[in-house]
Amino acid sequence: MAVKLRIDHVSLSFGGIKALKDVSFDIEEGTIHAVIGPNGAGKTSLTNSINGFYTPQEGDILFEGKSLKGIPPYKRAKLGISRTFQNIALYTNATVLDNLMAARHIHMKANLLTGALFYGPAQREEIEHRRRVEEIIEFLEMESIRKARVGTLSYGLRKRVELGRALALEPTLLLLDEPMAGMNVEEKEDMARFILDIHERQGTTIMIIEHDIGLVMDISHRIVVLDFGEKIGEGTPEEIRHDERVIKAYLGQEVSA
Ligand SMILES: Nc1ncnc2c1ncn2[C@@H]1O[C@H](COP(=O)(O)OP(=O)(O)OP(=O)(O)O)[C@@H](O)[C@H]1O
Ligand SMILES: [Mg+2]
Repeated sequence: MAVKLRIDHVSLSFGGIKALKDVSFDIEEGTIHAVIGPNGAGKTSLTNSINGFYTPQEGDILFEGKSLKGIPPYKRAKLGISRTFQNIALYTNATVLDNLMAARHIHMKANLLTGALFYGPAQREEIEHRRRVEEIIEFLEMESIRKARVGTLSYGLRKRVELGRALALEPTLLLLDEPMAGMNVEEKEDMARFILDIHERQGTTIMIIEHDIGLVMDISHRIVVLDFGEKIGEGTPEEIRHDERVIKAYLGQEVSA
């Protein structure tokens, strides 16, 4: 299997805080790969380093074999790396449909000028974007809320719109930062089903950060465990479940929490 993403000796610090310490692992193409660990372990910092918000001081990140160094976030999105946010980042005054269309527009070839000169192609492109967005709305079962303003939706639904926004970029690598946090059991089950469907139908490689260990173990092929910025474990769910160091640093406390 091909390596989709390689984290190669990545270190990232903020002043004296070492958010990531010499972290290395591979994500194989077409797998669901979880990143777990206690609060402040560096999980979001890793996501931010992959999508280009943060620039690690050391190491490299390779996407499909090529270094991402110097490539800004919007270009990484165009390459196929798309993410959701731990703290939802949507236009709350706009509708679900408009939020998804806004995300689509980074895929637009026609700019304002060519749009004005060649009205036909630009219009066709807009129709195609609309069609793709409607497909995502149908897939995520959001038909009834497509015209609703995002700010009026429940937290669980906003998380779903966030996933839709990430999907509108047509990623081949999807980074999900706690997509089920704060959800009730039913909402979590729906979200897990959508994630598995995306993976099955489109073969999308997925990196998921999630604190619900039972769920992580259920849906992931491999798991990486971070603690204080360091990788302290990696393996299949079964291996991680029995890893002494992981149990001590994280799983023990999750069970008792
Ligand atoms: N922009 C930043 N500036 C300064 N420090 C930061 C910044 N981003 C992250 N950190 C620090 O880096 C460390 C790792 O934080 P990070 O948010 O990556 O953890 P996390 O594993 O995502 O935690 P959680 O489970 O709470 O979301 C923390 O000590 C945090 O305070
Ligand atoms: Mg985080």
